[in-house]
Amino acid sequence: MTFPDDTIRIAVRDHYAEIARTETGCCAPAPPSHSDASCCTEPEQIGYDPADLAGLPDEAIMGLGCGNPVALAGITEGEIVVDLGSGGGIDVFLAARKAGAGGRVIGVDMTPEMVERAERNATRAGLENVEFRLGLIEDLPIEDGTVDVILSNCVINLAPDKAPVFSEAFRVLRPGGRIVVSDIVRSGPAPAGIDPRSWSSCVDGALALDDYLEVIAAAGFEAAEVLRRDGEGSIFSATVRAFKGAAAAEPPPEERRACACGC
Ligand SMILES: C[S@@+](CC[C@H](N)C(=O)[O-])C[C@H]1O[C@@H](n2cnc3c(N)ncnc32)[C@H](O)[C@@H]1O
Repeated sequence: MTFPDDTIRIAVRDHYAEIARTETGCCAPAPPSHSDASCCTEPEQIGYDPADLAGLPDEAIMGLGCGNPVALAGITEGEIVVDLGSGGGIDVFLAARKAGAGGRVIGVDMTPEMVERAERNATRAGLENVEFRLGLIEDLPIEDGTVDVILSNCVINLAPDKAPVFSEAFRVLRPGGRIVVSDIVRSGPAPAGIDPRSWSSCVDGALALDDYLEVIAAAGFEAAEVLRRDGEGSIFSATVRAFKGAAAAEPPPEERRACACGC
C-alpha cells in the first residue's frame, strides 16, 4: 500500500465530516466544496422501499448506501444489531423498527459529525432503542459475543485493511449470529496506484468479490453467500451474508416447530 492506513482514514473522515455538516445530505444539490458526491444514490435505486422510509427524518436519508442490508437480514423482535459505519442512521432506524422495544440497534461511526447528525435524527424520530457510538469498525466499542446481527452499508470498502473489520465483527457476534453487508466490489483487479482523496468515493478501496468472500472466511465466518447484486459493470454492489458458526444450517424458528411435530 502506497499510503499509511491513517492517511486514508483521515481523508475518508474529512470527506464524510463535510457531508455530515451539510444540512441536506448529498443527494441534494452539492455545495461548492463537495461536487464529487460519487457515493450518492437515490434510495429507490439501491433497494429501499419508499414506504419503509416514510417517517424517517430527511437528514437520515443521505443517499450514501449501495444496498439495503436491513431488508435481507431477517431481523426479528428482541435482536441486538450493530451497524458498521452508520452515517446519518438510516439503517439503524430501519433495523430498530424490526428489533422492537425489546431489541437494540447500535450504530458505530468514526466521524464525530456523522455521529452527532445521527443522534439528532434519533431524537427527531423519537426512537429509544437506538444508540450511536464514535469508534472505528476495525476496533469496535462493543463487548465480545453480545450481538445477533451485524449490518453495514457501503463502508467496508473504505477501510484500508478489511481483515480487522471482519475479525471484529466475528468477535462481537454471539455464536450463530450473522453478518449482512452491502458493499462495493469489483470484478477485475484493483487499480495500481492509491489516491487517498479518491478512496472516499467507494471505488479505490473495493476488493474483487472473490477476495472479499475470502477475507470473510478467513475471519472465521461460514456459509458466505451473495444475496443480491446491483450493477453489471466491473464495479458493482453486492449484499453478502455469512454466519458465525453452525446456525447457518439451522432452519428459521417456524420450520423448526413444524419439524418437531412431523419429522
Ligand atoms: C458511504 S458512508 C455510508 C453511511 C451509511 N452506512 C449509509 O448507508 O448511509 C460511510 C460512513 O462510514 C464511516 N466510516 C468509514 N470508514 C470507517 C471506519 N474505518 N470506522 C468507522 N466508520 C467509518 C464514515 O464516517 C461514513 O459515515
